[in-house]
Amino acid sequence: MIIKPKDRLIFALDVPSLKEVKKWVRLLKGYVGVFKVGKELFTACGPKVIDIIHQSGGKVFLDLKFHDIPNTAAKAGAVAARLGVKMFNVHTLGGLDMMEAVREAVDKTCKRGRRPIILGVTILTSMNEKAMKEVGIQGPVKKRVLYLAGLAKKAGFDGVVASPLEAKDIKKRFGKDFIIVTPGIRMPDSKPDDQNRTMTPKQAIAAGADYIVVGRPIREAKDPVEAANKILEEMR
Ligand code: C5P
Repeated sequence: MIIKPKDRLIFALDVPSLKEVKKWVRLLKGYVGVFKVGKELFTACGPKVIDIIHQSGGKVFLDLKFHDIPNTAAKAGAVAARLGVKMFNVHTLGGLDMMEAVREAVDKTCKRGRRPIILGVTILTSMNEKAMKEVGIQGPVKKRVLYLAGLAKKAGFDGVVASPLEAKDIKKRFGKDFIIVTPGIRMPDSKPDDQNRTMTPKQAIAAGADYIVVGRPIREAKDPVEAANKILEEMR
């Protein structure tokens, strides 16, 4: 099945108000397959934002990176499933028991085959080996990411959020159906901001990413539609 570049592009709605959400969704609906609702927006506006995106025909990636005791994370996952989002994520560092509890709770909540895509966040794309060492995680980033992706697979998750630099190895080890969502996307001429492990859209797709998450390179562009279009072109 050929997936259109638009369906692979996830726009990070890192804004604090419903007014801005409406503006961005209206502007980018024709260029973006999924809108990502993260911590800033969800904390500011709550689940209403998801309804607004759904009402305007958009799909939602709920990026709240659940990381808690199994019971709490599982209940949060079930609520996310009931909100009808296309995908949501859970932090793999919360452990295998937590991930399994989430997957079981979501399976119980949803009718067969109609559950959202559950993704495990491996190592944040803003982190490098030095930052990992600071929090007591030793060794090369890629090795850790592959290990955590394995745990997500074992828990029955559909895929992972990882940097494009690890995408190729994840696909090789866990198969082509194991979904990879990659933030840390930058055009050759854009600044990295706080991201440490980046690639261009074209490189990320070539490495095996199924979806790419782009925020600031579109949001902060002089002409965001043109920036989104350039990204779609790059992916073709
Ligand atoms: O602006 P930028 O393109 O860097 O935005 C990347 C988005 O992806 C942000 O919303 C960030 O929260 C999210 N993200 C990330 N790294 C992860 C998971 C999500 O950058 N591992």
